[in-house]
Amino acid sequence: MVKHDVKDMKLAPAGKKEIDWAERDMPVLRLIRKEFAAKKPLKGMKLAACLHVTKETANLMLALKAGGAEVGLCASNPLSTQDSVAASLVVQGVPVFAINGENNKQYYQHIEAALLAKPNVTMDDGADVISTLHGKRRDLLAGIMGGTEETTTGVIRLRSLEEQGKLEFPVVAVNDADTKHFFDNRYGTGQSTMDGVLRATNKLIAGSAVVICGYGWCGRGLAIRAAGMGARVIIIEVDPLKALEAHMDGYQVMPIAKAAPLGDVFITVTGDISVIRKEHFAKMKDGAIVCNSGHFNVELDLEDLAKMCKTKRKAKPFVDEFVLKNGRSIFVLGEGRLVNLAAAEGHPASVMDMSFANQALAAQYIFKNAERLEKKVYRVPEDIDKRISRLKLKAEGVSIDTLTPKQKKYLASWEMGT
Ligand code: NAI
Repeated sequence: MVKHDVKDMKLAPAGKKEIDWAERDMPVLRLIRKEFAAKKPLKGMKLAACLHVTKETANLMLALKAGGAEVGLCASNPLSTQDSVAASLVVQGVPVFAINGENNKQYYQHIEAALLAKPNVTMDDGADVISTLHGKRRDLLAGIMGGTEETTTGVIRLRSLEEQGKLEFPVVAVNDADTKHFFDNRYGTGQSTMDGVLRATNKLIAGSAVVICGYGWCGRGLAIRAAGMGARVIIIEVDPLKALEAHMDGYQVMPIAKAAPLGDVFITVTGDISVIRKEHFAKMKDGAIVCNSGHFNVELDLEDLAKMCKTKRKAKPFVDEFVLKNGRSIFVLGEGRLVNLAAAEGHPASVMDMSFANQALAAQYIFKNAERLEKKVYRVPEDIDKRISRLKLKAEGVSIDTLTPKQKKYLASWEMGT
């Protein structure tokens, strides 16, 4: 059996069922897997992937393997691993190093374990492998052809490396593909974050005040879902354009200090640090629910909250109750980590179909073109993005019009006014 560190190999049959369930909703990735299996374009690729170890990710790993790549997988978050899926992947020949609930030390040990295979391509969700390679494991840099990055926060970290002239290999920003962030960040995060809140608390959303910090791609999707369930949505922003958009989309917009005493549920999705701080916790209502769906667990100042508390206890799975010295309770979900993965199952497979089709084709692109690419952050090539949207539309049974020659001419000319 391949090398691994997973919770329990006996969970493998259950994991296989989960993977098969997701596969049903991933027609675009299925097609890519079929093409990969026939042509083996990834032969010679040694891939270290650091992604949420979910049933959808398993389908991506199997597609890459079908293409001839040797793949190894570790988790991109200590709480997001589906242990049964991890075990099933090991049975299917993918070395996996991930255990749900692993501590920080184990988390980084697992990244090191995935690097033992001396990869030549990396695949990140949050840039932890790339930052390890640019820090402690610079010895492996020479062997790396390139990498891909899944999420907004990871792309921000990579652009910062690039701007400082320190990026050591080309990376494709999968997040920036239209067929990724328009859908995954918006509809995927929107639905699955509400799912996480509901599974953890089973609170009635109708009539409650849901405060959403960040009105980017994820925040917009979340606001639509919360409003659709009958919440009074309050948006917190720092970007005037996004704030104006939220205002005209019909939501209340205000600073977090003003929203703190009003909210029943608070959700951060900014990719920023210390968004909800001690002065805000101090003003919250008794029973306020607080969680995060941004990539890192830095959006809520939970250490400060702990210091403000008389007691802390586990109220129920995924819910910690902090009783403040003022007697009020604040309930924090999923330890402040991505609530949609900690308390629910992450994004639905149908949306990950597009994100992971981008990942698979971006990995192929990097592998094929590494020599002519510079040490930069690249967008997913437009033809890949367009192809994925066409395939997904077809899979969804939606057909659209095409431009007539007359329309093409009109749209390409400046001479024809009327
Ligand atoms: P985005 O860049 O589109 O939106 C972030 C928004 O937060 C921006 O409008 C920004 O102005 C705002 N913001 C920044 N600091 C703020 C503050 N202190 N208070 C209020 N607003 C603030 O980014 P996107 O794509 O929406 O991603 C947000 C985060 O969610 C990132 O960390 C990303 O990696 C993560 N993410 C999580 C997913 C999940 O499964 N939970 C899926 C996709 C992305």
